[in-house]
Amino acid sequence: MKHTDICDIFKDCSKYLGNELTVCGWAKLIRDSKNVGFIELNDGTSLTNLQIVIDKESFENADDVLRQNVGAAMIVKGTLIESLNPKQPVELTPSGIEVVGVSPNDYPLQKKKHSMEFLRTIPHLRARTNTFNAMFRIRSELAKAIHDFFQGRNFTYVHTPIITGSDCEGAGEIFRVTTHEYSTPYETEEEYYANDFFKQKAGLTVSGQLEGEALAMALGKIYTFGPTFRAENSNTTRHAAEFWQIEPEVAFADLFDIIELATDMLKYIVKHVYDNCPEELSFFERFYEKGLKDKLLNIINSDFAVIEYTEAVDILMKADCDFAYPVSWGCDLQTEHERYLTDIVYKRPVFVINYPKDIKSFYMKLNPDGKTVAATDLLVPGVGEIIGASQREDNYDLLLEQIKSRGMTQSDYEWYLELRKFGSAPHSGYGLGFERILMYITGIGNIRDTAAFPRTKGFLA
Ligand code: 4AD
Ligand code: MG
Repeated sequence: MKHTDICDIFKDCSKYLGNELTVCGWAKLIRDSKNVGFIELNDGTSLTNLQIVIDKESFENADDVLRQNVGAAMIVKGTLIESLNPKQPVELTPSGIEVVGVSPNDYPLQKKKHSMEFLRTIPHLRARTNTFNAMFRIRSELAKAIHDFFQGRNFTYVHTPIITGSDCEGAGEIFRVTTHEYSTPYETEEEYYANDFFKQKAGLTVSGQLEGEALAMALGKIYTFGPTFRAENSNTTRHAAEFWQIEPEVAFADLFDIIELATDMLKYIVKHVYDNCPEELSFFERFYEKGLKDKLLNIINSDFAVIEYTEAVDILMKADCDFAYPVSWGCDLQTEHERYLTDIVYKRPVFVINYPKDIKSFYMKLNPDGKTVAATDLLVPGVGEIIGASQREDNYDLLLEQIKSRGMTQSDYEWYLELRKFGSAPHSGYGLGFERILMYITGIGNIRDTAAFPRTKGFLA
């Protein structure tokens, strides 16, 4: 049915003043007093509700309407007038209200404030709260900004497969894809997989990178933006089993080119949200993170730090801090170490570069020292790692050596090796965790609250 979006009314009230309008939405609040009744109507297009002010004497079915409960769905026709209430510029004087969907008393969102834990139990309804209304709009604007950024720079948006036969990160965190029933009786693993749908082991992708590399070797600059899956045994506030990743891959680029690209992208997308979501950011600043807007301005306006892994380890070893995991050269950095670097030492995003090869993935380019790889993680205060990046090994023999020495099945990677045989070129790329950057931009502290229907270990709502 034809109606006006409430966000458009507040964008330019003067355009609608005095007009007959139809608005559709859900009642956020219904208040009945002696002569007038009020309905705060929200249609999801903005955080701001439109107030419907009912003159009980002249409005025909006032009692029927005001008897409704919060959450009821309504179609309201009326005239937009200037409001006497200084809290709002306009209000609607209704000529007709149709209640299309009642909301019985057991509607769970009656109270003004609910805990995030409770809201996670009702993912099908929590999008109607202010927090999720604001989060989803920022999520959408962020996605738009990412596409704008890459497409404005001659990148081609590609779609890499979700079902794959290879484990990109080599961490064995793949969700299996199979059509076998529970009781299929096979003697060996080989026999089991040979009789499965793909006649081999298959799983959900942990990253589109390997296929992305093949496409970058043809298109020069590509990016993916899609779901990735990890069966990580990490029940933390930053790990999801299903999350979205943005993975650009660039031919003829080294580690420093890719650091520059990641920096430019972050500044661009943060600025886009800062400029286009002022109401939502004010909401998150008020209820989730004091100083949020200044933090984002700081991202836009200041340089990120770049430090060697070896330097980071030195800083951590000298730190006056009791880490649960002791630090020495060769160890992987734990959250507590990352937080020390970003929150205490640098107080801004930090690229840690040149990690020991043994704690990183097989595809990363070996540095001339033979011990480290041309890889970097971007760590940000409060959230930790949001980007994993590297220059890729473009030498056939060195890559093959890594595949063999890590006990990977060579035949699974023949096509990937061939990219190093035919016109191999230096190339680099990164993966940005979409929900992680969303946590950073909104101040939401748990990844479960940045996706509509989050999937985490032991939880499939
Ligand atoms: O560092 P990761 O594992 O890197 C890759 O997957 C590379 N193939 C990327 C590339 O070079 N094309 O993951 C990249 C990012 C992390 O920095 C993090 O932001 C996010 O993906 N991430 C997760 N986000 C939510 N839940 C999880 N379980 C995540 N694992 C990684
Ligand atoms: Mg990583």
